[in-house]
Amino acid sequence: MNTSVPALPLPSGALIPQVGLGTWPLDDDEAARAVDTAVGLGYRHFDTAENYRNEKGVGVGLRRSGLDRGQAFITTKFNKEWHSFDGVRRAVEASTQRLGTEYVDLLLIHWPNPDLDRYVEAFRGMRAVQDDGLVRAVGVSNFKPAHLKKLADAGLVPEVNQIQLDPYRPRRDVREANAGLGILTEAWSPLGKGTRLLAEPLLLTLAAKYGKTPAQVVLRWDIQSGIVAIPKSANPQRMAENLDIFDFELDARDLSSLDGLENDAAVSDSDTFGH
Ligand code: A2P
Repeated sequence: MNTSVPALPLPSGALIPQVGLGTWPLDDDEAARAVDTAVGLGYRHFDTAENYRNEKGVGVGLRRSGLDRGQAFITTKFNKEWHSFDGVRRAVEASTQRLGTEYVDLLLIHWPNPDLDRYVEAFRGMRAVQDDGLVRAVGVSNFKPAHLKKLADAGLVPEVNQIQLDPYRPRRDVREANAGLGILTEAWSPLGKGTRLLAEPLLLTLAAKYGKTPAQVVLRWDIQSGIVAIPKSANPQRMAENLDIFDFELDARDLSSLDGLENDAAVSDSDTFGH
């Protein structure tokens, strides 16, 4: 089993491991257990958020594991009440306190909340906390091309855009907008939670062909598509499985078959939903 996870460089210089552990909807105790176990399995990238209410648990798990802080990559996200220049500083100070760390590796605006229309100001606040070293890299989550354009028009370019993405929801428009601006695409719910993705006949065929599981084929599609993926699992066996994807390669034909799986699975609409 080869679990050495490649890391991609971000413009700020931070290196983001291409597979991370999603932690929603784990509570503090579950997150602490999952993160501690995950470190032992080789995970170095952990994704949390103010809204998940488990940052404390993620911090406890990291300390329990004994992992050196410098070896961990921690992402967190803040809610709409902090969408202001100074609010971002308060948000990240509260997050680092809950995590028990001096800085976070990646800070994301969790949802754009376009009705509020304050994400441009929030992003300016993120640059300030980045300059102060509280945050290494800055990005957004659930941003559509129009939201990214508004930021870019203000001279602001996120390093990462974390979106709901899986083979049923390949989100080509957002990925193209990301690529055009040099933004790395990150996938939440990469295994298509809420759909029958993992029972998809093409995935079963490819899993048999490569001697892997459907989940591993999906995650390999992410890796070969240049996408960072953060599958959530609290089950040690599935956690290990989700990291064990670096000893095989999908061929070009299979990649393009996977690219053809798009269907009408619903995507959370960030023009109308957000917190
Ligand atoms: P569990 O925590 O019991 O492992 P996503 O990150 O795409 O939202 O997916 C999360 C869901 O998929 C969780 O319900 C998780 O359950 C399950 N899951 C995670 N990894 C795998 C896997 N390798 N195979 C099947 N189901 C998985």
